[in-house]
Amino acid sequence: MGEVIKAIAKRSSTRGYTAEPVTEEELRILLEAGLQAPTAANKQEIHFTVLKGNHPVLQEIEEDKNKLRGILALEHNFYYEAPVVIILSADRDFRWSVLDAGIAVENMSLAAEELGLGSLIIGCIYDALRGEKQEYYSKALQLPDNYEYEIAIAVGHKAVSKEPHTYDAAAQITYL
Ligand SMILES: Cc1cc2nc3c(=O)[nH]c(=O)nc-3n(C[C@H](O)[C@H](O)[C@H](O)COP(=O)(O)O)c2cc1C
Repeated sequence: MGEVIKAIAKRSSTRGYTAEPVTEEELRILLEAGLQAPTAANKQEIHFTVLKGNHPVLQEIEEDKNKLRGILALEHNFYYEAPVVIILSADRDFRWSVLDAGIAVENMSLAAEELGLGSLIIGCIYDALRGEKQEYYSKALQLPDNYEYEIAIAVGHKAVSKEPHTYDAAAQITYL
C-alpha cells in the first residue's frame, strides 16, 4: 500500500499534545502540503496564519468561543494545548473558498500523520471568528483584505492515541 493511502487510513483526530515543539522543518513541510493543495481555477487563495500555542489571541478566541456557547471554561482549550495552530482564511467572495480550505487542511493533516505528528481540524471557533468580532479578529490575525476564517488545524506531538473512526460504507456509498 502506498504511503498516502496508509496515512489516510491511520490518521485520526489528536486531542492531547506533549510540550515538544514542532520543528521549523516540520512546519515548513506542513505549510507546503497546504500550499500544494489544489484550488478551484488554481486561484491559490488560501492564507495560512501560523500561531504558537501560547499566542494571546488564541486565549481570547477560546474565551469568546466559550462565552458564545454559554460555558465558563473547559478542561482543554479548543486546540488541546498543541504547540502550533494554523488558521486558514480565504477570500470571502470566492465561491470555492470553503472547499479549497477543506482540501488544504486535509493535505496538512495527512502530512502531519506522515511526519509522525498528531493534528486536529478545528471548526468550533467559527462563531467567534465570524461573529460580531470578525473585523477585530481579522486585524489581530493579520488576514489579507476581504479574507475570513474558514478552518484551523492544531499540530503537535501526540500525548494520546485514538483509533481511526469507523464508518458504515454500505450506508454512505451507492453504486449505480
Ligand atoms: C470541518 C471539521 C471541523 C472540525 N472541528 C472540530 C473541532 O472544532 N473540535 C474537535 O475536537 N474536532 C473537530 N473536528 C474533528 C472531527 O470531530 C473528527 O474528524 C471526527 O470526529 C472523526 O474523527 P477522526 O478525525 O478521529 O477520524 C472537525 C473536523 C472537521 C472535518
